[in-house]
Amino acid sequence: MIQKYVYGNPFSTDAVTVQMEAAEGAPQFGQLCTDEGFCFTYEMGKEDIVYGLGEANRGINKRGFRYVSDCADDPNHTEDKNSLYAAHNFIIVAGKETFGMFFDYPSVITFDIGYTNLDKLKVSCAHADMNLYVITGETPYDIVKQFRKIIGRSFIPPKFAFGFGQSRWGYVTKDDFRTVAQKYHESRIPLDMIYMDIDYMQDYKDFTLNEENFQEFPAFVQEMKDQHIRLIPIIDAGVKVEEGYDIYEEGVANNYFCKRADGTDFVAAVWPGDTHFPDVLNKDARKWFGDHYSFLIDQGIEGFWNDMNEPAIFYSTEGMTEIKEMLKKFSEEGEKGVPMFHLMGKIMSMSNSHEDYKRFYHNVDGKMVCHEDVHNLFGYNMTRAAGEAFERLVPDKRILMFSRSSYVGMHRYGGIWTGDNKSWWSHLLLNLKMMPSLNMCGFLYTGADLGGFGADTTEDLVLRWLALGVFTPLMRNHAARGTREQECYQFDHIEDFRSVVETRYRLIPYLYSEFMKAALNNDLYFKPLSFVYPEDEIAVRVEDQLMLGDEIMIAPVYTQNAKGRYVYLPEEMMFVKFGRDGEITEKVLEKGLHYVEVALHEVPMFIRKGKCVPVVASAECVDDLDSTAPELIGYAGSEYTMYEDDGVHKDYENPKNYRVLRK
Ligand code: NOJ
Repeated sequence: MIQKYVYGNPFSTDAVTVQMEAAEGAPQFGQLCTDEGFCFTYEMGKEDIVYGLGEANRGINKRGFRYVSDCADDPNHTEDKNSLYAAHNFIIVAGKETFGMFFDYPSVITFDIGYTNLDKLKVSCAHADMNLYVITGETPYDIVKQFRKIIGRSFIPPKFAFGFGQSRWGYVTKDDFRTVAQKYHESRIPLDMIYMDIDYMQDYKDFTLNEENFQEFPAFVQEMKDQHIRLIPIIDAGVKVEEGYDIYEEGVANNYFCKRADGTDFVAAVWPGDTHFPDVLNKDARKWFGDHYSFLIDQGIEGFWNDMNEPAIFYSTEGMTEIKEMLKKFSEEGEKGVPMFHLMGKIMSMSNSHEDYKRFYHNVDGKMVCHEDVHNLFGYNMTRAAGEAFERLVPDKRILMFSRSSYVGMHRYGGIWTGDNKSWWSHLLLNLKMMPSLNMCGFLYTGADLGGFGADTTEDLVLRWLALGVFTPLMRNHAARGTREQECYQFDHIEDFRSVVETRYRLIPYLYSEFMKAALNNDLYFKPLSFVYPEDEIAVRVEDQLMLGDEIMIAPVYTQNAKGRYVYLPEEMMFVKFGRDGEITEKVLEKGLHYVEVALHEVPMFIRKGKCVPVVASAECVDDLDSTAPELIGYAGSEYTMYEDDGVHKDYENPKNYRVLRK
């Protein structure tokens, strides 16, 4: 059962798509106070587990830390960080009492989950203007499904997006892209997408192409498609301030940019220098910005990634003026005028500052709303601008879209990638732990920068990370400018990379089926073990293994120099390893703890007792996979319902999409 409570005058986020009457009284759980801001407190039982929060730091069980929903462009995801790029304010308390809560509040909100007091849950924010949804159900899994129903169906990408993608911030010319395609081809490693980072644009201007490097772009897009590669360009939030640039001029003329209190357009510096932010919370501006994606769609582009949409601000005009004044004072009067630590502090905090978020406004149905009060909705609405436009521009076709920043509700318009991680083993594990929490909040098409974005990676880390990426719907290798090159062909053992990536392609009929079933039934693609084995006291605490769909469990190796890992089996399972040249080894293992050996080129997975999984021969790309007669691996006598469609259009409900396979 779901009850909605309304406090104060909430901003309408459109996160929930189902209309609900507000309930009288207070939620049956915990204590709520709306006198000074909003505060919900709950005494947790010693054994209670708290799930949810989507893209957040730390574990699947969120207990023991403080998380702050405050979409932030922070590339250093160290253990102490409270905020990442998203605001997914849905939690489930499971234990003494079991319930879910969605705090539909678009500004900064803090979840203190046993941080200040070990057993106290405290959710608080500055204003008591909120729609609060309280969900009761038998199990956390049941609560998640109810929640997913009220927030609407998750985004479904085209099928090619289940292929492998290569990205790097630093591909500049057509030849850079050609080289990637060619090297993958020569290495006989499948590839479906190459991502275009900001250098494809002219001076980092949205909806432009670098005039020198990308002349005759449609022909180039086709040249790549002929090699079964889709180019996926990035779109940034900030629109460059430049006379004569059509997007800038249209935005200014129509008041489609975010404004200062005095009515002038707010200026924030990002990659292009000074930019204005499209006011994506304003319906008309959203339509206008979204329609511009046609610039690239018309040239053959079928997918995008939206970036810097927290929105990221390197500095604002106001912030820079303050710093300049301090510097002047420092140069004239030295430490006496401005202590150095003061000056340093100011410089260090000039990016993505809440001082700036307080300086600009959105025009929402004629009312000026301060960005600070709706901060967490920007990435959501930028992606919504695109999603709504795709419905108008190409209504029958699926377009790939994923975003960096997000809020619940955005899951209907796109997926997400988890932003700027580092080439650290701990981030491989963080990637694994985030996946089920993201699914709980509706984000199914997700993945991390495989191999790590920042810092120099190593061959073994990329291989182990790819072996996890085999199972994440978005499988993309991406790295930052200046870091060690990490395309699969850059390393010694190309054949190891081939085995791992080919395993992905061999499993696509299964992974795609499970993704589609999860999307169409508001279900989870990734589940914590506790959702499937709630009675098993060991399984409910396992954080480094996940259930995927109904058939398999995954347990990637995430430790350097390890030859394998310990894995806990909550029931008998078939341990499967994918090796070189299509080799598959199978071994039935009893319930309990096992050490399993996994070489760097192998991909391990576990098939649940009585289940089977379809496997096909690998191919150069998704379009070339032949799934007419898949091999079934797993338990004899079992059956599997496979989902297949053309992967392009939206004929999801057709019963012909389902085929029962028997082993
Ligand atoms: C930040 C993004 O998170 C990253 O993926 C991208 O490469 C850079 N911006 C440059 O566009």
